[in-house]
Amino acid sequence: MPVEGPLRRRWPRILALIAVAVLTVLAIFALWAREPVIAAIGRPDPASFDPRQVALGASLARIGNCASCHSVPGGRVYAGGTPIQTPFGTIHGSNITPDPETGIGQWSYEAFARSMREGLGRDGSHLYPAFPYDRLRHTSNADLRALYAFLMTRDAVRAEPPANSLIPPLGWRPVLAGWKLLALPRTAPQGPQPQLGALWERGRYLGEGLAHCASCHSPRGLLQQELRERAYEGGWSDGWYAPPLDATSPAVREWTAERLDAYLRTGLSTAHAAAAGPMGPVAHNLARAPEDDVRALATYYAWTMRDARAARSEPVLPDRGTVAARAHPSGAALFRGACAACHEPGAPMMVAGRPDLRLGSPLHDDNPRNAVQVILQGLEPPVEPHGPYMPAYADTLTDKQIAEVTAYMRARWGSGPDWGNLVEAVADARAENGE
Ligand code: HEC
Ligand code: HEC
Ligand code: HEC
Repeated sequence: MPVEGPLRRRWPRILALIAVAVLTVLAIFALWAREPVIAAIGRPDPASFDPRQVALGASLARIGNCASCHSVPGGRVYAGGTPIQTPFGTIHGSNITPDPETGIGQWSYEAFARSMREGLGRDGSHLYPAFPYDRLRHTSNADLRALYAFLMTRDAVRAEPPANSLIPPLGWRPVLAGWKLLALPRTAPQGPQPQLGALWERGRYLGEGLAHCASCHSPRGLLQQELRERAYEGGWSDGWYAPPLDATSPAVREWTAERLDAYLRTGLSTAHAAAAGPMGPVAHNLARAPEDDVRALATYYAWTMRDARAARSEPVLPDRGTVAARAHPSGAALFRGACAACHEPGAPMMVAGRPDLRLGSPLHDDNPRNAVQVILQGLEPPVEPHGPYMPAYADTLTDKQIAEVTAYMRARWGSGPDWGNLVEAVADARAENGE
């Protein structure tokens, strides 16, 4: 090949040209993605905030579930460091106490409001959408002011969150400008608004915005953006399945506003089940939010689920004990030994007003994830220390045993077809839990 010699000599120059072109594109992109710094301020005097505004901010922070992502168990509240797993790696919740160096002590209200609306740090850097600003941005100015007053009057805690670990190039924040361009919804979350009263209106405002229920309960796209046109069709959070909150709700009892109100406020609906996994902290925080606001959320979500099958007619629920034991003998034996004391109909726990296992969604979902997660991780009382409790079996039962007992319970009390390969489903859940 006659061109080989000269081409080989030209390679270094071609590579250098490509490198220059790539760097130029990156530099132009970084310039385009750059956002202004908002000047630092001295930490505002906590006494300068109106106590009523601070109290309102405290309620709103509970509705916004802020503490769940900005505190670690046993750590100081709002001091950050909380690991949030995403398909692209781990992101940590920031320190949002008013510490000037490691927290938001130097942030003006404008900087705070811009972070909640645009997902930008005070220094203009783009923030990851693991911070649900795509939903929090629908919060009113008055409510953002109250949240700011609340955060700025907390104790300042000096704490630097650990570094994030993300697959390249996602550690480079300017790429998030591209994400925002492609995936951040610019419009209000809802279409035409029916006139359904002040409580419904309040519930919609909180639920679609600050409370960001759809962040967990909606499916996500390839860019991990919430698919708004499929809002409430069910989603995933921290390895748990957040079931649909629309007409496709798997619940076997109707989610009336009264039942939802009890569930959100106490972490337990006696007509359904206890709030497990990531729903536990949501209930824990809502238990301390104003009753009218929780009632409003319950009114709104009872409405989003108004066409669910359980709202049309509540089915008679079978107990197929004999058939299930014949199909899954080892699962039945395990259940008798380890679980029956709490779960066999008529057991003392049941008598004490705990819901029947037939009533919860986990055994009726189209995937086994939540049934498996409850068995692996157990259940912490979501609201009060004497609330529903179940031990974790991750360390005492093998994947095969959990698969067998799950298959038995689905056959005995669930609905829908067999879940298929449950051993694999247990291994998948353990992997998601970082075991
Ligand atoms: C689902 C988890 C989650 C929830 C809920 C959440 N945040 Fe965050 N927040 C994050 C993460 C993660 C970051 C850091 C993002 C980054 O580093 O790019 C963050 C960043 C922030 C920042 C920017 C801080 C900085 O130093 O850049 C502020 C301010 C903030 N959150 C306030 C709030 C408030 C107020 C609430 C409640 C209304 C809230 N967050 C709820 C996950 C969450
Ligand atoms: C951090 C993620 C997350 C957020 C935010 C969240 N949920 Fe959930 N939710 C879940 C998960 C996971 C479950 C399944 C828990 C279980 O099976 O016990 C769940 C369960 C539920 C259920 C029970 C559904 C059923 O049929 O079993 C209802 C109702 C519910 N959530 C309503 C809400 C409302 C209303 C909000 C907003 C105020 C909300 N959730 C916010 C994750 C979340
Ligand atoms: C100390 C009592 C206790 C023991 C022992 C116990 N559980 Fe539970 N379990 C609970 C409570 C309380 C709940 C929440 C009530 C509810 O949601 O219906 C629950 C919920 C569940 C759920 C979720 C179903 C739903 O409808 O929410 C499954 C699945 C489950 N348990 C399986 C098991 C299995 C399998 C075992 C034995 C290996 C077991 N449990 C042992 C107390 C217990």
